[in-house]
Amino acid sequence: MNTRDLRDLKVSAIGYGCMGLSHGYGATPERSEAIRLIRSAYGYGCTFFDTAEAYGAGDNERLVGEAVKPFRSRIVLATKLHLNKEDGDVAAVVRSHLEGSLKRLGTDYVDLYYQHRIEDDDQVEEVAGVMGELIREGKIRGWGQSQATEDQVRRANAVTPLTAVQSEFSMMERMFEKDVIPACEELGIGFVPFSPLASGFLSGKYTKQQTYEGDDVRRVITRFAPENVERNQPLLELLYTLAEEKGATPAQISLAWMLHKKDYIVPIPGMRTTARMEENFGAADVALTQREYERLEESLAKLTLYGNRTDQDIAKLKRMR
Ligand SMILES: NC(=O)c1ccc[n+]([C@@H]2O[C@H](COP(=O)([O-])OP(=O)(O)OC[C@H]3O[C@@H](n4cnc5c(N)ncnc54)[C@H](OP(=O)(O)O)[C@@H]3O)[C@@H](O)[C@H]2O)c1
Repeated sequence: MNTRDLRDLKVSAIGYGCMGLSHGYGATPERSEAIRLIRSAYGYGCTFFDTAEAYGAGDNERLVGEAVKPFRSRIVLATKLHLNKEDGDVAAVVRSHLEGSLKRLGTDYVDLYYQHRIEDDDQVEEVAGVMGELIREGKIRGWGQSQATEDQVRRANAVTPLTAVQSEFSMMERMFEKDVIPACEELGIGFVPFSPLASGFLSGKYTKQQTYEGDDVRRVITRFAPENVERNQPLLELLYTLAEEKGATPAQISLAWMLHKKDYIVPIPGMRTTARMEENFGAADVALTQREYERLEESLAKLTLYGNRTDQDIAKLKRMR
C-alpha cells in the first residue's frame, strides 16, 4: 500500500481501527481469529494500527500488542488515554496511564499517543507539556488529540507540535472540515478520520431490516434507524453510480474521496473479515480524478442527510443508563 505522512510518522494510506475486535460492534471474534485478522492487515500492507486503553477495558491493547509483536518495529502503533476532569496531577496521571498501556501492549514505546476525549479544556496546555516530555524521553514518538476543537488543537500544538488529530469524519459527518482539518493543514498536523465509513453505513451493505445486538453502537446511532436508512438511500445511490463507473465499491469510493481531499488524511476503518480488509485497503488504489471528485462534491452538497453525529447518539445512550 502507498504511504502517507502524519507529520514525521510514515504510515500506510489506510490504517486499521482495531476497536471492533473487542468493543462497540456487538459479538467479537475469538482471540485467535482477531490475532489472525490483525496479522492479515499487515499482510495487506497496513502499517498503522489503532487501539485505546478504553476498548474492552484494556483487552484491545493486549490483543493488538500480541498480534503486532512479529512486526512491532515496522509499524506505527497508536493508542489513547482518557483523562477525567477530576484528575489532579495531570503529568503523573498521564504517565501512569502510559505505563499501563505499555504493559498491556507489551512494548516499551508508543508511536502515537492520543488524548482520547478532552473532558477539561483547562488541561490542554498541561497535557501538551507532558506529551513533549514523553517524546523527549523516547516513551512516545508523537502525540495527538481526538475530537478536539480548532482552539484546542492550536493551543496544544503551540506547546508540543501535534502529530495527528483523530476525529469522526466521513461523507455523513463533516463538522471538522470547516475548521479543524484546515488548521491541521496550516500547522502540518495529520488528520485521522475515525468511523470513516459511518460505522459501515457507506458500504451500502446494511438494510433497514438489519438488527444489532449487545454493545453494537448501531443500536443507538440514528443513521441506522430504519426510517433514516431509507431516507439516506440517495447517498448510497450516488456512491453506487460512481462505484460502477470505476469498477469499485461504495466503501472504496467513500475512502478514496477522503484520500483525494488531502494527502495528510489517513482513515482507519474497522473490519472483521479479510474480504472487507481487501475491499477497504484496496481503496488506496482507487484514485478519483479531479473531475470525479468535483462531481461527487457537487452531488453531496445537494443531499440532505438524516441522523445525528455518532457522538451525539452515544452521549444520549450514556444519559439513558
Ligand atoms: N477516537 C475516538 O473517539 C474513536 C471513536 C470510534 C472509533 N475510533 C477508532 O476508529 C476506528 C474505526 O471506527 P469504526 O470502527 O467506527 O469505523 P467504520 O469503518 O466506519 O465502521 C466499522 C463498522 O463498519 C463495518 N464495515 C467496515 N468496512 C465494511 C465494508 N467494506 N463492508 C461492510 N461493512 C463494513 C464493520 O463491520 P465488521 O467489523 O463487522 O466487519 C464495522 O461494523 C475504530 O476501530 C477505532 O480504532 C476512535
